[in-house]
Amino acid sequence: MKKRIAVLTGAGVSAESGLGTYRDNGGLWDNYDPMVVASAEGWARNPGLVLDFYNMQREKLREVQPNEAHRLIAALEKDYTVDVITQNVDNLHERAGSTHVVHLHGEATKVRPENTCNDYDGFSEKYVVDVGYDAVRLGDKAPNGAQYRPHIVFFGEAVPKIERAVELVAAADIVLIVGTSLQVYPAAGLYRYARPEAPIYLIDPADVTLCDSRVHHIKAVATKGMQEFVGMLK
Ligand code: APR
Repeated sequence: MKKRIAVLTGAGVSAESGLGTYRDNGGLWDNYDPMVVASAEGWARNPGLVLDFYNMQREKLREVQPNEAHRLIAALEKDYTVDVITQNVDNLHERAGSTHVVHLHGEATKVRPENTCNDYDGFSEKYVVDVGYDAVRLGDKAPNGAQYRPHIVFFGEAVPKIERAVELVAAADIVLIVGTSLQVYPAAGLYRYARPEAPIYLIDPADVTLCDSRVHHIKAVATKGMQEFVGMLK
């Protein structure tokens, strides 16, 4: 039976593909107010602005490729059962070959009717449509007549897949964290569900301080850190 690795990723794993992070200098939230473009209130107040923001995210995705870190994470599946639990809304893990990806905060290439708002039907795939990299505008409606909205967990909304993510982390033999500032809950608290005997590795070039003695910090960018991590597994 293959050992299980839970890989918790954030924007840092896609940084070397050319996608911006959120909170580094010059990050997305330096240029856009998340409460305007990525919150439930923002959607209620000005859905057109929110649609434009995610149209821009989708357009950027068309131009970028997975990087070596995505590929090395996917390659772990040869010897391990790998659960990627990402805060990212990009599709780079899938495009690099990862076959089990849980998107805690939704997916930029997908939309759903805006009236599927509760935990159950909001994330039940039957309403979700993959628009690829195409723009979605005000007036683009679902078969039920409701305006399409980004299939994103906005600030102020529940994270329907968090229970599943906790189960996957608690089942892991190894937990790997790549490229997240661990500032947004409940995603940021996931690593604490690791079993006591499960080693936790953190790949990040910044001085991320985790008050957990089990955490082994590989201070490097994702592509280099993943090479070092893979070497440690041998
Ligand atoms: N390789 C690895 N890590 C990197 C790299 C890199 N090349 N460049 C930056 N980082 C690290 C930063 O040091 C930081 O710790 O990636 C992390 C990025 O942190 P954030 O920008 O806060 O992104 P993230 O943690 O994914 O944000 C979480 O916040 O706004 C919400 O929903 C949004 O999913 C997002 C969530």
